[in-house]
Amino acid sequence: MAARAAAAKRAERLFQIEPIGIIHSPFRIAAGTPIQPGAARSAAGTVIIRPALVPALKDLDGFERIWLIYRFHRARFDRSKLTVIPFLDEVPHGVFATRAPSRPNAIGLSAVRLISVRRNELLIADVDILDGTPLLDIKPYVPQFDAFATARCGWLQGRNLGGNTADQRFTPSRAFHHRAHGDC
Ligand SMILES: C[S@@+](CC[C@H](N)C(=O)[O-])C[C@H]1O[C@@H](n2cnc3c(N)ncnc32)[C@H](O)[C@@H]1O
Repeated sequence: MAARAAAAKRAERLFQIEPIGIIHSPFRIAAGTPIQPGAARSAAGTVIIRPALVPALKDLDGFERIWLIYRFHRARFDRSKLTVIPFLDEVPHGVFATRAPSRPNAIGLSAVRLISVRRNELLIADVDILDGTPLLDIKPYVPQFDAFATARCGWLQGRNLGGNTADQRFTPSRAFHHRAHGDC
């Protein structure tokens, strides 16, 4: 019994994640927010990193793009809805076959453009992220690692991503959000 409790505690610790910073953007609600960095037409934002983590930013400025890994903190997720109608289609797909914000662990990742790094502040562009989003991690975007130009892309094959913006389907309205979670 004690061994089981200790294992449960270890597992709990393993999954305790603290944000490393906050992403700021001009987008306060989902409606009108670009659906991917490639559709973001240079929309600018900033990332404020926890000051204690500044040494971890050394040499990041050499990268033109960085992966931001973050929590879709404003997404609504209903465990019974594991298929979603994504922004770019009219029929349901398994949530893991989409980039929809409403997903079991609500993790988002965006390859944004890095403009500058100044102390604990990153200036970024091509942002598809809501203002106030908690940031979990940063990794450099490396085309040799991350780009597979000829990879098959399922139901998204041939879709035009240019300029698409979101609606509120995965995100409670502003009023609801204020009532349910306070901050926004
Ligand atoms: C389709 S998702 C793609 C995000 C990311 N590039 C990915 O693939 O994981 C982009 C949309 O997520 C929504 N979104 C962005 N930040 C969010 C947040 N913190 N909480 C809930 N929804 C968010 C916005 O509606 C945005 O248009």
